[in-house]
Amino acid sequence: MAAIHHRHGGFCRELKKVRKGPFIIGVAGGTASGKSSVCQKIIEAIHQDPSTKDSKIVCVSLDNMYRDLGPDESEKAAQGKFNFDHPDAFDLNLLTKIMKDVKEKKSTQVPKYDYRLNARISGEFVAIEPSDVVLVEGILAFYWPELRDNYDMKLFVDTDADTRLARRVRRDTAERGRSLDTILNQYTSTVKPAFEEFCLPSKKFADVIIPRGADNTVAIDLIVQSIKDVLAADQQLSPTKPNAHGDGPLPP
Ligand code: ADP
Ligand code: C5P
Ligand code: MG
Repeated sequence: MAAIHHRHGGFCRELKKVRKGPFIIGVAGGTASGKSSVCQKIIEAIHQDPSTKDSKIVCVSLDNMYRDLGPDESEKAAQGKFNFDHPDAFDLNLLTKIMKDVKEKKSTQVPKYDYRLNARISGEFVAIEPSDVVLVEGILAFYWPELRDNYDMKLFVDTDADTRLARRVRRDTAERGRSLDTILNQYTSTVKPAFEEFCLPSKKFADVIIPRGADNTVAIDLIVQSIKDVLAADQQLSPTKPNAHGDGPLPP
């Protein structure tokens, strides 16, 4: 355990522990609650601030971590009858491997996923470069203890179920090639029950609950400020980099 004197905005702060890898933030919440939008806003804010614009921040989405389906499962998925909201729908081995890589600051690859075909796009990947901050977002981002234990901060995006369903209908018809009938059948038969069984109970692990998702600019600003504080403290520790405010590293 080491204490770091962090000079920021004229005040000193003691951080109790030193991290080796990136600062990892878990972002959970129901379908269409605004997880991806909140992550996007955080990334934009970090990139726009002159003191952190060169920091590397990346988002890893559980939306790309669905496992391959067998022929019978694919048939069910095409009819909106496969349960994509159950933990068994995910490729936990892939998720574990990607988390290990990001923690060790190794470049890694996440498969691209096609929601129209309910399958990975063969041979196509999104590259994840070593980063200072990693956002891990998904409906079950807090579900598995082995994933959850990696997070330095946990955010739960909390948006009313009716708002989420309305957004999901719009998104899935426009972007995921779904009919209204399929969306509503899937929502009532699997999405809603699995949300109540697996996602909602994981809210208790959150450090910060964000009501109304990306509309909540006050919450997002506070989270962004915490990330900037962490990045500034990391730079104070690194003897080679100037810190986020242009000073050199602090003397021991
Ligand atoms: P999630 O990743 O939790 O599923 P998204 O961020 O993808 O949620 O949002 C779901 C849909 O709702 C998207 O089409 C997005 O553009 C839209 N959306 C998200 N936040 C808002 C908002 N505050 N107001 C209106 N539409 C929104
Ligand atoms: O972005 P969002 O959190 O909404 O993504 C998760 C949702 O995607 C789940 O609720 C699941 O029902 C849906 N999904 C789907 N078809 C797939 C994979 C996931 O409808 N092939
Ligand atoms: Mg999303």
